[in-house]
Amino acid sequence: MDRSNSLAELARRLRAAGRVTILTGAGVSAASGVPTFRGADGLWRHFKPETLATADAFARDPRLVWEWYAWRRELIARCRPNPAHEVIARWSRRPGTVVITQNVDDLHVKADTANLVRLHGSIWALSCFERCPRGITPWLEPEPVPPELPPRCPHCGGHARPAVVWFGEALREADLAAAIAATRCDVFLTVGTSAVVHPAAGLVDVAGRTGAFTAEINAEPTSASGGVQVAIHARAEVALPELDRLVACP
Ligand code: OAD
Repeated sequence: MDRSNSLAELARRLRAAGRVTILTGAGVSAASGVPTFRGADGLWRHFKPETLATADAFARDPRLVWEWYAWRRELIARCRPNPAHEVIARWSRRPGTVVITQNVDDLHVKADTANLVRLHGSIWALSCFERCPRGITPWLEPEPVPPELPPRCPHCGGHARPAVVWFGEALREADLAAAIAATRCDVFLTVGTSAVVHPAAGLVDVAGRTGAFTAEINAEPTSASGGVQVAIHARAEVALPELDRLVACP
């Protein structure tokens, strides 16, 4: 199917759907200026995930990991939602719609997205690295930022860490349960993800097996492309507004 037929078919499915689930990844925030992880200029081309995005790395050098996240927070603080976030936010207010994101930048929150599952946490929140009982619940970074880096857990005095999911860590149970529940839908659409990090990457297959119409919008083919019913290779900030217009006026 060519691009315009694929968009028309997806628009028709979205119009008829009662339950729609949208899974997003770093590509959705690319047009806002947030770097993606993989691809030509992705973060993992320049940094090693095992030295920056694991609990071992933090235990070895908390300051280094903290500073890398502080650098990313500074960069993200300058970014605003783009038309892809805006379309998704508008759709999210339609009953039966769930948005699952792997992004920790909170641009979906800034765009006022309803029914949002932040599968990998938020770069703006902290939690206790020692996993003390009260420090498991994330809190927002205090203003002004304390002089000691990384800051301390206000409950037990241990190190505080970014409340994001690192490699090798389990997702928060409630988030994973919400994401799995959302695979029971009529249309499951993935946008801007390379679909290689599990369990997020497996959700589209689960949805397809339980009868959902599955679709992908991504700048380039991914490991999910062969398994979905419609794969549209385009930038999210261009394709989603186009799709939005087609859904509204067939
Ligand atoms: P990736 O960086 O792996 O994939 C982003 C995808 O978006 C790539 O396939 C790009 O081609 C595509 N892309 C780039 N610009 C785009 C645009 N404007 N419109 C549409 N697509 C575009 O990011 P994720 O799949 O989100 O996890 O990565 C998943 C997880 O791996 C992240 O949450 C992070 C990372 O390691 C953790 O940190 C735990």
